[in-house]
Amino acid sequence: MAILPWRQKAETVALVPTMGALHRGHMTLVEQAQRITQCVIVSIFVNPTQFGANEDLSRYPRRIEADLKLLAEAGCDLVYMPSVEEMYPEGFATRVDPGPLATILEGAARPGHFQGVATVVSKFLMQLMPDAALFGEKDYQQLLVIRRITRDLDIPAHIISVPIARDRDGLALSSRNAYLTPDERQHAVALPHVLLETAKAIHGGATIATALTDGKHRLAQSGFHVDYMELADAETLEPVHTLERSTRLLAAARIGTTRLIDNVAIEPRSV
Ligand code: PAJ
Repeated sequence: MAILPWRQKAETVALVPTMGALHRGHMTLVEQAQRITQCVIVSIFVNPTQFGANEDLSRYPRRIEADLKLLAEAGCDLVYMPSVEEMYPEGFATRVDPGPLATILEGAARPGHFQGVATVVSKFLMQLMPDAALFGEKDYQQLLVIRRITRDLDIPAHIISVPIARDRDGLALSSRNAYLTPDERQHAVALPHVLLETAKAIHGGATIATALTDGKHRLAQSGFHVDYMELADAETLEPVHTLERSTRLLAAARIGTTRLIDNVAIEPRSV
């Protein structure tokens, strides 16, 4: 295995798990990984177990050639691209269940999603045994799920979070943005804008329930179907009604057939 010589030289290894169709957001994870470890592995695997029956597995963007080129240019040391059969051979039956954190917000909207994510990421961490694994705050709940399972299962990798990379107008970069028509793309910018405005209102002292209702209303006016917009504790993701601790304002909304997620941090007002 390619990693063995690195281990023998006691070099540190980081893993950046991805589903490919790489963009600048993914590459900020790779760059951060390169800053903190000597060898960087990027995995590309469109993981079937994290997609629901009526989700976009078959139309998920696949651009292997372009991905490999980007990674080579960035100086990535190893690309790991297992097949579905290698990851889930006949008879595969185990699922990693991250508990209550996996049943709220994204987990409520996408039953089974986080079990699929937790299972595949546990497998990668066992297979490759990296010193660190990097995850984006773009998928904030996923990041917390990974922290939970690595703690609970004593998986020794350090979990490193990386801030959200955004397009110039503020839209969080995502492989799914490729689905947006030019018209939808223009409207999609309402998601980060409304989140930011709502966060400012809450931080400025507005009633949380009212600010959330207003925010959802504004998203609907911009053409979104809102799945949720919630203020949650930054550690547990439990809903919060006062601004006493670090929180995250999280939203998921659909525009046309594309479902987008985004979030912003809101810290308590200093007294
Ligand atoms: P994927 O959506 O390809 O994302 C891979 C990693 O890139 C995740 O950690 C995600 O949070 C991060 N990322 C995506 N867009 C980002 C952005 N705009 N800014 C910062 N980070 C960003 O997330 C997955 O794949 C899968 O669920 C996976 C963890 C690989 C398990 O299958």
